[in-house]
Amino acid sequence: MKRILLLAATAALMLTGCSSETSNTAAADGVSFDEVLSTRRSIRSYDASKTISESEVREILLATQDAPSWANDQPSKYYVAMSPEKIAAIQELIGEGNKKNVQGAPVLIVSTYEKSKSGFFGGNAINEVGDGWGAYDNGLSNAYFILKARAMGFDTLIMGMRDSDGLRSLLGIPSDEAIMAVISLGYRAGEPRMPVHRDLDEIVKFY
Ligand SMILES: Cc1cc2nc3c(=O)[nH]c(=O)nc-3n(C[C@H](O)[C@H](O)[C@H](O)COP(=O)(O)O)c2cc1C
Repeated sequence: MKRILLLAATAALMLTGCSSETSNTAAADGVSFDEVLSTRRSIRSYDASKTISESEVREILLATQDAPSWANDQPSKYYVAMSPEKIAAIQELIGEGNKKNVQGAPVLIVSTYEKSKSGFFGGNAINEVGDGWGAYDNGLSNAYFILKARAMGFDTLIMGMRDSDGLRSLLGIPSDEAIMAVISLGYRAGEPRMPVHRDLDEIVKFY
């Protein structure tokens, strides 16, 4: 009887697609976190035949809100271009190399942070890092963005080479926001090269 119950339970688990291993995997696609980290690469060649929906972009942006920020100030903001006109206009503001590399990416996103927020109290910088904490928070938020995108099967390229004045006027970004990266979002058209990483002992010191 015990054996029959066990078999029935196993069959039920197989039918629902659940297993005791699912708690270790990314919910959306069953990709492990380590796999998300190791397959996430800067992608410089996109498959133009594939599109991404607004609701998928929203799901990725929702994940950025799980990122920590100074005093929960949440200074990061995102400007999402999905129309061909806005995408073409942004492509003119990221330099020739980046423009060529993001051809076919269906989404371009500009990330900013609200200045004098993270790391500030009563209008004064709390320590020597000043608005660097806003940039720090924005980088954390963008890290969540690119990893969540990868977990959903998408690819990204963070671009620091961009014309911030041009982006500000194109997208109406207020002057109290610092413009950080442009991020492309799409599907890889080929496998990227693995970058060389420094030896761990060059960058870490244990005490
Ligand atoms: C802040 C920042 C700015 C970057 N700017 C550019 C850029 O303008 N163009 C580009 O092709 N890659 C850019 N990259 C991507 C880096 O070159 C890439 O992350 C690095 O070579 C490591 O490769 P990987 O992302 O595949 O691990 C940038 C990355 C970061 C984090």
